[in-house]
Amino acid sequence: MTIRSVVLGCGSYLPQRVVTNAELASRIETSDDWIVQRTGIRERHVAAEGEFTSHLAINAARAALAAADVDPQSIDLIVLGTSTPDNTFPATAVAVQDGLGIHHGAAFDLQAVCSGFVYALATADNFLRSGSFKRALVIGAETFSRILDWNDRTTCVLFGDGAGALVLDAQRQDGTSADRGVLTTHLRSDGRHKAKLYVDGGPSSTQTVGHLRMEGREVFKHAVGMITAVIVDAFEATGLSAETIDWFVPHQANKRIIDASAHKLHIAPEKVVLTVDRHGNTSAASIPLALDVAVKDGRIKKGDVVLLEAMGGGFTWGSALVRW
Ligand code: UT7
Repeated sequence: MTIRSVVLGCGSYLPQRVVTNAELASRIETSDDWIVQRTGIRERHVAAEGEFTSHLAINAARAALAAADVDPQSIDLIVLGTSTPDNTFPATAVAVQDGLGIHHGAAFDLQAVCSGFVYALATADNFLRSGSFKRALVIGAETFSRILDWNDRTTCVLFGDGAGALVLDAQRQDGTSADRGVLTTHLRSDGRHKAKLYVDGGPSSTQTVGHLRMEGREVFKHAVGMITAVIVDAFEATGLSAETIDWFVPHQANKRIIDASAHKLHIAPEKVVLTVDRHGNTSAASIPLALDVAVKDGRIKKGDVVLLEAMGGGFTWGSALVRW
């Protein structure tokens, strides 16, 4: 017998405003063709003035709680992956906690950039399995539109805003890979790459918020190798494989990276969940947003094995296998 973190429900939220590639091409030197061919992105959502990361996160959390059909008061842990908090402090997670009317347990932010959701999931899973908490909200929420340099065509066309959330419940299971819940998580980082994708501001360094800067080609070069290695770790830990998983829900940064990773691992294209065309790269929010799309359209069903992975600034990267 063992304790597993079982998914009770998921939810997501996207700001209303959609910005198409054509709209960007009317403002900066770019084109729909370039963006689609290099990234697969066609449009992204952008938060309204006065709409904060916490607002997106609260909406996603409410949707997840409704899908799970659980009382918000049963939540005793909130882990929020974000690199675009409302404020330097307090954690955006406590604004979410308060917005949901929860005043017990613990809520904190976790900062691992695009790997934020996998890191948050792994953290919540470890707290649930240790018995410290019973029921968790794991959220990825971002307003990257606020840290983009809208005159830098090499970055501003890539990102979008949004939020997604999962409700996890600590439940006794048999301790085999046939269990429901989080089966394994693997986290990695290597700070030697910290200058390849970063924000050029911060409270301690510049006392400004700063803008996102990226050596895209350098990130691309490392992405597929890091992603596939940490997925192999997940397969080895569980005995599962490209053949026995049902769905691959990767971080949605670039369709070329996703396709190359799936190809290298021999994951069939029809198992790959793709939302980068509609959402752009929403950093920590991209995986739960994609999960929610695939659950709502009936692809991901109870009992299915879902493979998650992410890679981003730091570099950080990670994988998780979850039986829905
Ligand atoms: O989620 C976190 C992790 N981040 C990522 O995974 C991002 C990884 N990197 C990438 O996805 C790709 O490197 C990019 C999509 C960012 C860029 O694609 P690329 O194929 O690596 O293009 P590149 O940076 O090598 O640029 C090719 C050309 C350059 O022109 P020259 O130097 O060849 O004349 C760029 O100036 O494309 C130019 N370019 C653009 N052209 C039109 C760069 N951005 C644009 C643009 N529109 N928006």
